[in-house]
Order: sequence, then C-alpha cells, then structure tokens
Amino acid sequence: MTDIDWDLLKSRATEAMGKAYAPYSNFPVGAAALVDDGRIIVGCNVENASYGIGLCAECALVSTLYLTGGGKLVAFSCVDGHGNALMPCGRCRQLLYEHSADGMLLATVSGVKTIDEVLPDAFGPRQLIDYAG
Ligand code: THU
Repeated sequence: MTDIDWDLLKSRATEAMGKAYAPYSNFPVGAAALVDDGRIIVGCNVENASYGIGLCAECALVSTLYLTGGGKLVAFSCVDGHGNALMPCGRCRQLLYEHSADGMLLATVSGVKTIDEVLPDAFGPRQLIDYAG
C-alpha cells in the first residue's frame, strides 16, 4: 500500500503518547495504526505499581481495535516521549502479528518495514489451525 499517511499516523501516536500513564518509568509511549477499513486507532502505555503488569501502548491499541469494530492492522507507528519512532518490544511484535493484515507496514527506526521483517519466521494463528477448537 503506497497511500499511507505516515505523518498523520505519527501525529496520532504522539497525541496518544501525551495521555500515557507512566509514572514509574517516565517513558510515555504512544501507538497508532491504520485498520483495513480505513479507521485509525491509538493506544498509550498504562503502568502499575506492580511493575510487571504494566500495559504497553500496543496492548491498548489492540484492545481498541476490537472495541471499535475489529479488523486487521495495515500500518503502524509508535513513538517515545520525544515523538521519535520507537520499536515495539518483542512481546508487542507478537501481539501486532496476530492482528496484522498481510504485508502490514511499520514505521521503524530504520525506515518502513513489514511485520515479517520485524518478526521473522513468526509463530502465529496458522500454526494452530489444526488444533484450535
Ligand atoms: N513500552 C511500550 O508501551 N511499548 C513498547 O513496545 C516498548 C515499551 C512501555 C512499557 C513501559 O511502560 C515503558 O515503555 C518502559 O518500558
């Protein structure tokens, strides 16, 4: 897909970053994604006094994906507290992969990449086709 408005996605991610609750790390994160029906969804990180259960921005984004109608993620942008591109952590790459459209694109610190480039040889829903109920 060539008509992705990366500037818009980044600005929506930056806006979401401004809503983050990150009093423990002081590392606010915002994420935004284009869904295959054209809508844009966002998420921010929400930390917890029980440090290990804090939620990454991508968790909120995926929850919002379903709250607002589901679908597949076509393009994704994530920013840190300075509004600079941030790579999704390993767990969140897996989270995004589950809900990715074929060829999903991500704005990374080294340019636009596909989900398969940021999570190569991924384990995913296809591996469970013969097992899931
Ligand atoms: N964080 C995210 O929200 N997404 C990522 O992909 C990387 C890390 C958050 C988790 C924690 O609240 C803070 O950044 C510092 O790790």
